[in-house]
Amino acid sequence: MYPQQIIDALRHVRYPGTGKDLIESGMLEDDIRISGFEVSFSLIFDNDTNPFVQSVVRAAQTAVQTYVNPNAAVTVFTKFKLTQRTPDTAQRSLNAKHTIAIHSGKGGVGKSTVAANLAIALAQKGFQVGLLDADIHGPSMPKMFHTEDCRPFSVEENGRTLIEPIEQYGVKMLSIGFFLDPRQAVVWRGGMASNAIKQLIDDAHWGNLDYFLIDLPPGTSDIHLTLMQTLSLSGAIVVTTPQPVALSDARKGVDMFRNEKLNVPILGLVENMSWFTPQELPDNRYYIFGKDGGKKLAQELQIPLLGQIPLVQSIRESGDEGTPVTLQQGHPAAQAFLHIADQLS
Ligand SMILES: Nc1ncnc2c1ncn2[C@@H]1O[C@H](COP(=O)(O)OP(=O)(O)O)[C@@H](O)[C@H]1O
Ligand SMILES: [Mg+2]
Repeated sequence: MYPQQIIDALRHVRYPGTGKDLIESGMLEDDIRISGFEVSFSLIFDNDTNPFVQSVVRAAQTAVQTYVNPNAAVTVFTKFKLTQRTPDTAQRSLNAKHTIAIHSGKGGVGKSTVAANLAIALAQKGFQVGLLDADIHGPSMPKMFHTEDCRPFSVEENGRTLIEPIEQYGVKMLSIGFFLDPRQAVVWRGGMASNAIKQLIDDAHWGNLDYFLIDLPPGTSDIHLTLMQTLSLSGAIVVTTPQPVALSDARKGVDMFRNEKLNVPILGLVENMSWFTPQELPDNRYYIFGKDGGKKLAQELQIPLLGQIPLVQSIRESGDEGTPVTLQQGHPAAQAFLHIADQLS
């Protein structure tokens, strides 16, 4: 088998959304891989709530078996374009082209690390980026951005008093942590927490942004539902480690976003702590949480795997020091985060 045969076979599959075939519709990514009887390629859809995804994937598999080789084992990956949704309240100062939630089923899997580094990576690529730390259980952006002592001040705009985000490393950032006393264990009730978060979205001076990233609390709670219904999200990124407990919670997160009430497209999955690499043995990989768990989950759920991030001491250290690793140009971990940013832009 060779790639042109696959392309020709996919010309036999009509995409109901355009009425044209998959190739004419520009839905085939340039990533056909063939090895023996195994064939894989990606199809690009507008969003993952597209009603035709499953049937088109099946038709593509059948077309390859019918027109190229009946024994072909065909894996079709699905990718989704970011959709631009317009903000639903004119009152808002926030005007973001893409609003993306960063989610994890479990705490401690590196959701905030991914959110912080991704925000910095997008800013380094020249985008206007806002980051909201909405994790009421463990707000960590003040520390990760070395801004623990900052207190956002207010500004007046068109007769409204707005909270001015803190700007650090090219990112406009606000954290629920700025408004909590770190020595006091506050138990936020669902309603209170979602109101506070809504205020940080609607009553802050975000301005025009290319990307607005939200570091959500882990899990699937009422806060998630309220927030998601208020915001017009363009998509969600799910972060997980490769171990089974984290994966099963990640799956619940994906189900929540895909729930018909929310209908938020999943932009992809980030597998964090994929392997451990000691500083003194940079070529060694130890799969301490299991190998490729996130990758396999992404394949099974047919969502893109945006990246696999190793467990390395410098990611932990740089996070604790308030200078995320992406600030270190050329660092392999920085490149891994830039690679995720590339896929969103
Ligand atoms: N890839 C990694 N390598 C090393 N340490 C990491 C990595 N990802 C996260 N960490 C560390 O693990 C801890 C938890 O990460 P964090 O991003 O706060 O998780 P979450 O937001 O999911 O609770 C932090 O100390 C962080 O520095
Ligand atoms: Mg966190």
